[in-house]
Amino acid sequence: MGIQVGMVGVGSFAQCFIPLFKAHPLVDRVILCDLDAEKLKENSLRYGIPDASPSLDALCETDVDAVAIITQHWLHAPQAAQALKAGKHVYSAVPTGVTVAEIADLIKTVEVTGKVYMLGETSYYYPGVLYCRERFRQGAFGHIVYGEGEYYHDWDHGLYDVARWRGGDRWLELAGGPPMHYPTHSTSQIVSVTGAYMTHVSCQGFVDRADDGIYRAGANIWNNVFSNEAALFRMSDGSACRINEFRRIGNPGAVRMRLYGTEGSFEETSAGSVWVTKNYAETEQLDDLLACKGVSVRSAEAEGMGKVTSQDGTHRDVCPLHPVERLPKEFIGLPNGHCGSHQFLVDDFVRACAEGTLPPNDVWQAARYALPGIVAHESAVNGGILMEIPDFGAGPKAI
Ligand SMILES: NC(=O)c1ccc[n+]([C@@H]2O[C@H](COP(=O)([O-])OP(=O)(O)OC[C@H]3O[C@@H](n4cnc5c(N)ncnc54)[C@H](O)[C@@H]3O)[C@@H](O)[C@H]2O)c1
Repeated sequence: MGIQVGMVGVGSFAQCFIPLFKAHPLVDRVILCDLDAEKLKENSLRYGIPDASPSLDALCETDVDAVAIITQHWLHAPQAAQALKAGKHVYSAVPTGVTVAEIADLIKTVEVTGKVYMLGETSYYYPGVLYCRERFRQGAFGHIVYGEGEYYHDWDHGLYDVARWRGGDRWLELAGGPPMHYPTHSTSQIVSVTGAYMTHVSCQGFVDRADDGIYRAGANIWNNVFSNEAALFRMSDGSACRINEFRRIGNPGAVRMRLYGTEGSFEETSAGSVWVTKNYAETEQLDDLLACKGVSVRSAEAEGMGKVTSQDGTHRDVCPLHPVERLPKEFIGLPNGHCGSHQFLVDDFVRACAEGTLPPNDVWQAARYALPGIVAHESAVNGGILMEIPDFGAGPKAI
C-alpha cells in the first residue's frame, strides 16, 4: 500500500526531491508545505501538485503518513520530534540536530513512537563510500587504523546566497554557525563504512580573518569565531579519525575520505582516487569506476546489473557501483544529485515507511554522525581539550 508524504520546506534543496517523491510508485499523494505562501503557489504550479499546507503545525493535523523535512539546517531535530509525536514518519535533511539535548530527545521520541526516522545523508551513497563499504565487507582493509573525512566549501562558492535565502533579514546572525555543527557529510563516510563510532575528541578551530563579519564574537547566535575546524577522534574500534570542516579554504570544494587498514587503504584527493596495499604493483586507479557520469539502462542490463525492463533511458548522475537495479523504474531519466544519492535516499525512506522496515541512516546512526561534531566544537572553544562523546547505542539493528 502506498503512503502520503508532506514535503516540509519547498525552498531550494526541496526542488531535487519533490519530483522523486511524486514519482515513487509507493507514494500515493504528495502535499507541499511551507510558511511562505508565494513559494507554495509557485511549487504547486511547477509540479502540478494542488495539495498544500501553510506550516508544519498544520501538516501535523492532517492524515499524511510521513513528512520530509527540508527546512533550514538549524531547525531539524525539534521539527522532526514534533512530526514523530504527531504520528508521522520522518525524513530529515542534514544535519540531524545542533545540540546534544535535542538529539537525545529525538532518539527518545523515535523509541517511544516506533515511527520511521531517516536522515537524508547524501555521503552515504558517494562512490568512494560505496567502494570502501564493499572492500570493508570483504575484509580487504585488515584492521582499520586511521580514517579521514572532510567537507570543504568556501564562502566564495555560493554560500553568501545560501545564507541570505535561508536566514532572510537575520542572515548574518544565522550564517556564522560552527562548521562542526554541520559534520555529517564527513563523519558518515567513516562511520557508515566501518560501523565504529567516535568516542572522544580534541578539536582546533581557525579564528576567521575575513572582513565580511560572519565569524565574529557577538555577531552570530552561537558566538562563533571559527570558520574552519579540524578534529581528531578516538574511535570505538581502536582506530583514530581526523575530520575537517572548512568554510574558508583555497580548494574547489570537496566531500571525500581516506581510510587506512593494516592490509589495504583507500585514498581520495583532488588528484584522484586509488586503492593501495603493501605491494606497489597492486595499486588500483579508481577514477573511472567512481565517476558519476550516469549509467544507461541498456548497459546496466548488458552488464547483468539490473532487472530494469525499459529499453532506453539513463540512471542519471550515478557511477557503475551504484545499485541502480533496486531503484523504481519510474526514476529512470529523472534528476539525481550529490553523486547519485538523491534517488537512493528517497527510495530507502519510502520503502521503510511502506514496508515497515528500518532504513539505513536511522536515528541512532544519524546521532553518531552529528554528536561528534557538536562535542568537537565545544572542545575547540576550550582550546582543544579531550572530551567524551555521548553515545545512544546502535538501536534495534544491534539486537
Ligand atoms: N547534500 C545535502 O545533504 C544538502 C545540500 C543542500 C541543502 N541541504 C539541506 O537542505 C535544507 C534546506 O536548504 P535550502 O537551501 O533548501 O533552504 P531554503 O531556505 O531554501 O528552504 C527552507 C524552507 O523551509 C521552510 N520552513 C521552515 N520552517 C518551516 C515550517 N515550520 N513549516 C513549513 N515550512 C518551513 C522555509 O519557509 C523555507 O522555504 C538545509 O537544512 C540544508 O542543510 C542538504
